Amino acid sequence: MTDKFISIEGIARRYPGAEGTTTTIFQNLWLSMGRGEFGCVIGHSGCGKTTVLNILAGLDAPSEGTVIVDGQAIEGTSLDRAVIFQSHALLPWRTVLGNVAYAVTSKWRNWDRAKVKAHAQTFIDLVGLSGSEHKRPSELSGGMKQRVGIARALSITPKIMLMDEPFSALDALTRGTLQDEVRRICLETGQTAFMITHDVDEAIYLADKIFLMTNGPGAVLAEIVENPLPKDRGRIDLHRHPYYYALRNHIVDFLVSRSKTFTATVTSHDPRNVPTVRPGLGEPTIVSPPRAVEASSAQTIAR
Ligand SMILES: Nc1ncnc2c1ncn2[C@@H]1O[C@H](COP(=O)(O)OP(=O)(O)O)[C@@H](O)[C@H]1O
Ligand SMILES: [Mg+2]
Repeated sequence: MTDKFISIEGIARRYPGAEGTTTTIFQNLWLSMGRGEFGCVIGHSGCGKTTVLNILAGLDAPSEGTVIVDGQAIEGTSLDRAVIFQSHALLPWRTVLGNVAYAVTSKWRNWDRAKVKAHAQTFIDLVGLSGSEHKRPSELSGGMKQRVGIARALSITPKIMLMDEPFSALDALTRGTLQDEVRRICLETGQTAFMITHDVDEAIYLADKIFLMTNGPGAVLAEIVENPLPKDRGRIDLHRHPYYYALRNHIVDFLVSRSKTFTATVTSHDPRNVPTVRPGLGEPTIVSPPRAVEASSAQTIAR
């Protein structure tokens, strides 16, 4: 595993405010991820999560700093980085196959139609959409549309898969199924993934590293939480793991209180050496169910 496959180096994003002022959304943001890692960003609305993702995608540029992916500084969009948005962003006049094939053709322009079709079909099958190849987006459920988005993203074998709250508009059952799919595919293919989520359990299930951002404006990356749960964790028995509640409560506590007070209270924070924590490790905690029920409100707290 390469230590710094993705390296975000001191980026800031500022916008001009009223009367010549400048609003700093975030600044001095340093963050790195290894190849094959799954990173999730959690933070309250408006702290700049989408902006960070857009900068990684090359859809936006930082006001300061650099982002390096696999040894190369990002300059604009690239087919090395695939984005899955909250809304499906499919071409409505194209079929499932047509949407995926369009991405494949963009990447490999000299491939003939048969090769493009076969390649697209592999990824349609991978996300469980075999049999729906010829449907148009209007004929698909929300979950199926997001599956097409995942197939389209994976079909170009990106170096990173970037996801901005991809499942937040889906019902809980569909969301769970798609989380399972994404997790299985990332583990099987060694896909590096960077995801924004509001859902604490989604982050615990999917991520190797969880990046905690304080509230904006002037947001900072406060902590990197390393997931202490075993790599082969399952969604069904996640909550039975002895470190689960320690991890969950740590993130919830951050969202409920520390995300608001962090900048004012932690004066020794060094953005280049953000602390890495592994909640529960060394002191396995099983918190009693009432605490867990309280904590379950975290999914809405982060909105
Ligand atoms: N074009 C823009 N001009 C001014 N402010 C912007 C612009 N785009 C985003 N912002 C501001 O940047 C902040 C961060 O936005 P965003 O990255 O979408 O946050 P998040 O995804 O964490 O909810 C918000 O306060 C938003 O209003
Ligand atoms: Mg956002």
